Amino acid sequence: IKKIAVLTSGGDAPGMNAALRAVVLAAEHYGLQVLAFRHGYKGLLENDAVPLVAQDVLHILQYSGTIIKSARCPEFKTDEAAKKAAENLQNNDIDALVVIGGDGSFRGAEHLSHHWNGQIIGVPGTIDNDLYGTDATIGFATAVSIAMDALDKIRDTAEAMDRVFIVEVMGREAGFIGLSSTMASGAERMILPELQREKPLTIAALVKHIERVKKVRGESSYVMVLSEHQWPGGAVALAEQLEAEYHLPCRPCLLGHIQRGGSPAAADRILAAQLGVYAIELALQGETLVMSGIQGNKAVATPLPDTWQIDKPLDPNLVHIQHRVFNPVKKNGDA
Ligand code: F6P
Repeated sequence: IKKIAVLTSGGDAPGMNAALRAVVLAAEHYGLQVLAFRHGYKGLLENDAVPLVAQDVLHILQYSGTIIKSARCPEFKTDEAAKKAAENLQNNDIDALVVIGGDGSFRGAEHLSHHWNGQIIGVPGTIDNDLYGTDATIGFATAVSIAMDALDKIRDTAEAMDRVFIVEVMGREAGFIGLSSTMASGAERMILPELQREKPLTIAALVKHIERVKKVRGESSYVMVLSEHQWPGGAVALAEQLEAEYHLPCRPCLLGHIQRGGSPAAADRILAAQLGVYAIELALQGETLVMSGIQGNKAVATPLPDTWQIDKPLDPNLVHIQHRVFNPVKKNGDA
């Protein structure tokens, strides 16, 4: 192969720039040319492309976001769109396309493969960590660290006022950010999609837990990590309900897109370096429709559909520690 294309797609993740840098540096190392499509699949449809060389990417790894921009592109699901994309890839003499993004971006890549014969390699870039085939996705470590930092700050004010706080974190349908930030901050409770799917927590059970923790520990704060979409109306509604119906002084805090900004954590920059270089090596080995991932310190290629079709479970030991050792809850969620 002589020429590759690269794009970043879907929700941006800290470390995407570091991954782009790794892809370009590795491509140059192996004598390949690089063309970047801007704004993800949208740019692929509009043939909005720029050539990239090492000089363009040398000093971007310390910034979040993505210098080649990203976008959500629902129209890419149509056959016409995939055909148009294939035509643009062909006209630009692209042999392999590297897609840096999450499951939506990989689904788009799979759709494209029905209309284009070139190779497609995925690089997992999402804060959600919800892709099978890699221990961590690029951006996850930074998002957790940002959430932890926010939770530490919330703890200061919560302790001063003996208040209950609900901190809402991202993660889409996965609780990885919720679980890790709970463990890292010592939060008293976590409400995560995986746990909610098993047995939804009732407000009565939650109140019992809060009361018990407060009783056992005396004057104290109670900080709860709530994964997005796991309570009707989110953290704001839950806080209002706890105050109005149960007279518990409670405040909500929504972290939102703050979790996607700032300086990427070292772990994400290093992961991005490994996964970006491995993506190019996979392309050179003739692989296609695989994701470049790391499992137990080893670079592994996973078929793209497996990355979203196979469930990636939370670490049961961390859940056990939180729910049985640190802040025990009964099987039914009560204290
Ligand atoms: O997939 C990354 C993510 O940040 C999710 O955690 C969140 O649900 C979603 O993207 C937010 O999307 P948007 O940036 O389009 O609002």
